[in-house]
Amino acid sequence: RPLLILISGTGSNMQAIVRAAQAQRWRERLGAYVAAVISNRPEAKGLAWAAAEGLPTAVVDHTAFADRAAFDAELARTLDRFDPLGNALVVLAGFMRILTPDFVQRYAGRIVNIHPSLLPAFPGLHTHRRAIEAGCRFAGATVHLVTAELDHGPILEQAVVPILPGDTAETLAARVLTQEHLIYPRAIERWLRGAGA
Ligand code: GRF
Repeated sequence: RPLLILISGTGSNMQAIVRAAQAQRWRERLGAYVAAVISNRPEAKGLAWAAAEGLPTAVVDHTAFADRAAFDAELARTLDRFDPLGNALVVLAGFMRILTPDFVQRYAGRIVNIHPSLLPAFPGLHTHRRAIEAGCRFAGATVHLVTAELDHGPILEQAVVPILPGDTAETLAARVLTQEHLIYPRAIERWLRGAGA
């Protein structure tokens, strides 16, 4: 089963997943492998990292499309190139695009995302700043199945971290990101087991 990882920037979650797939021998044990790393931004740093790892990469530059539907259609065509059996797990990892309902429907049940908050709290952007401003004592990250409703969908994994006195959005983001790198590979492995690999 191919894993298609979509990124928009550093791709630190993608890197954690690639490393987990190697360390836990997903190919041999689960028949799963990272088939490609795809980005909507040509300059995404994660693309160079993936290429250096010998992974196939592709870019679908969203600025080259008139509207969301046209971008999503091209993105689906690109994903399908790496997904001959139509059973890939699509992994959004720091992918900063809102996908159309048609696109989500096409991959329903096999598209996952990681969001840097304890959903259903703080969907959307600037989650760390909002949690601090709200006086929250805890923050965290959520891995969930992607549905048409943004940052919603069945929760697969969560991690919680304390918000400490003096925390800034940056210090909290770093603490949460460390946990993201632990729960995303775990959520994917559990999904692969449950999906009959
Ligand atoms: C981070 O804010 C992370 O919390 C969220 O996407 C952003 C970039 O992640 N999931 P990555 O380093 O590109 O994986």
